Amino acid sequence: MPYESNAFSLQNKVSLVTGGGRGIGLGIAEVLAGAGSDLVLVARSESQLASAAEMIKERYGREVEIISADLSQVGGYGAIVEQTMDRFGRLDVLVNNAGSNIRKSFLEFEPEDFDAVLAIQLRGAYFMAQAAARQMVKAGGGKIINLASLTSKISVPNISAYGAAKGGIFSLTKSMAVELAGEGVNVNAVAPGYVRTSMTEAAFSNSDTQDWMLSRIPMKRFGSPEDIGYAALFLACPASDYITGEVLFVDGGWMAA
Ligand SMILES: NC(=O)c1ccc[n+]([C@@H]2O[C@H](COP(=O)([O-])OP(=O)(O)OC[C@H]3O[C@@H](n4cnc5c(N)ncnc54)[C@H](OP(=O)(O)O)[C@@H]3O)[C@@H](O)[C@H]2O)c1
Repeated sequence: MPYESNAFSLQNKVSLVTGGGRGIGLGIAEVLAGAGSDLVLVARSESQLASAAEMIKERYGREVEIISADLSQVGGYGAIVEQTMDRFGRLDVLVNNAGSNIRKSFLEFEPEDFDAVLAIQLRGAYFMAQAAARQMVKAGGGKIINLASLTSKISVPNISAYGAAKGGIFSLTKSMAVELAGEGVNVNAVAPGYVRTSMTEAAFSNSDTQDWMLSRIPMKRFGSPEDIGYAALFLACPASDYITGEVLFVDGGWMAA
């Protein structure tokens, strides 16, 4: 029978979502939990993680482990995977979502700013994915989903380091996909358009910027964390088993216009 009823389910699976305490990461975590996955949520703010975990347990009845860690630091990624294995005995999905940004003109960017953005957006994502992939290869497979962006392909002013990192994520997704394809590990990315979160609050709270953003979106609405969550679910579940190295834009048509 060509239709497999579990193709869109994450029943009995374990997903690790970095930056899962708020914003897009929390939206992704909720959708994955709704599809049946237990979760590991990683970020720096323990209190935010704890309230996210409590809400998810109550609303979806899934198990949630929280790990407070600064993913911009060198090292510690293997320990996060070990803690996941100790708690659940498996790791099926990594959503590499944690991130932050510094907005400044290219002419004023300092090396420290550049390092801070790249440390979380690119180096952290790279080594978190490496630690997860090592475990997935050992287990015979898994799914890795990176967070790219519109700025993986285009740019707007004052986010040159962020754009460079997200361009790197676009390219890294393809490199990892090719290297891991023979190991049963699929690597894809979701590239959100604009979603109102702590990270984008500065852009959203300026009405001119908000109008300009909306004018670029054929669907005439901003994205929600759940919009990104459903795209991540597709890339996490068995329905996408033959897809690797793709970057799925979830942007209301921005990139098509
Ligand atoms: N919002 C958008 O329009 C948009 C568009 C395209 C792509 N994205 C991408 O989507 C992802 C999520 O962004 P968001 O908009 O949801 O931002 P957000 O609301 O600010 O959430 C960022 C998350 O990452 C965590 N994080 C940040 N720095 C960290 C660090 N050093 N170590 C561990 N965790 C860290 C934060 O928790 P703590 O601060 O507690 O650590 C938080 O949970 C990012 O990769 C972003 O680049 C966002």
